[in-house]
Amino acid sequence: MSQPTLLITRHLPESVLQQARASFEVKLWPHDEPIGQHLIAWAQGCDALLVMATDRLDAATLRQLPASVRAIATYSVGHDHIDLYAVTQRGIPVFNTPDVLSDAVAEVALLLMLSAARDAATAETALRSGGWGPWSPTRFLGQQLTGRRLGLYGMGRIGMGIAQRALGFGMQVHYHNRTVHTAATGFTYHASLESLMEHSDVFCVCAPSTLQTRGTVNRARLALLPRGSVFVNIARGDLVDEDALFEAILSGHIGGAGLDVYRDEPAIDPRFLQLPRTTLLPHIGSATLDAREGMGRLALQALEAFLLQGKPPANCLNPDALASPFAKGSA
Ligand code: DGY
Repeated sequence: MSQPTLLITRHLPESVLQQARASFEVKLWPHDEPIGQHLIAWAQGCDALLVMATDRLDAATLRQLPASVRAIATYSVGHDHIDLYAVTQRGIPVFNTPDVLSDAVAEVALLLMLSAARDAATAETALRSGGWGPWSPTRFLGQQLTGRRLGLYGMGRIGMGIAQRALGFGMQVHYHNRTVHTAATGFTYHASLESLMEHSDVFCVCAPSTLQTRGTVNRARLALLPRGSVFVNIARGDLVDEDALFEAILSGHIGGAGLDVYRDEPAIDPRFLQLPRTTLLPHIGSATLDAREGMGRLALQALEAFLLQGKPPANCLNPDALASPFAKGSA
């Protein structure tokens, strides 16, 4: 029996490609640039797609997908790049990669919290440019995290991972989520984002990008943060009003910032590069081999279960597509 054909839209770690080749006829987009508008042509004759967070699958793109495509996996936990309504209407299930990257992303959140609180970016730049100067009791002063209130906007798996690590730094954990997290005992729940922001010495965005969350970290809410607070975003740039963020950092209202995500990646607003007291990372949250291999394994397991074994995988974002009379799996 011939293997189903799988289009993979970026080069992946070797072990993941090997696993893919064991179960599928793999068609690999070989370039460093995202596949972009070539996706439709490359998807011809494919049974499944393994796409990246940088591939936009909006309604127009999904309409043009060849009828052969029966399943899509995204090499990410975030799925804001896929129009779930449109893909469900086409009866195509979408699988994502939760859990396996939570530790890696939580570690980057801690890295950014520490770096922003101590302004490691400015200190390192001074050293590298020969500007260290004599030791000074008042230079390179930062804030310590011990005893500070950490405000987590979002308490999913990644939020929980950040909270647990922050306890090790002696921080008090506060959070805002749609619902109270049953396992978040000892943490302070805030029913509103406004209340959370008023009580955050360190504020960290770790909520998914959805219709409800986009743009919610706006000028009025940023003004609620205590003066001098630390701002971190490891989720998605589009939750935040970037103009308002620039103003809050430049005015000193935000005392330090650590960012891994931006509205326009990778062509970020050039004003970011001029910001003082800010650590900037190029969306490396899940960039460890452990996480990237785990993401590949999980995405492929879901495609194998659905296409080869006719089983519904747990990490399906649109179970309605599995139930749909139009679903095209081999079950
Ligand atoms: C995700 O999985 O959503 C990450 O942001 C991609 O690295």
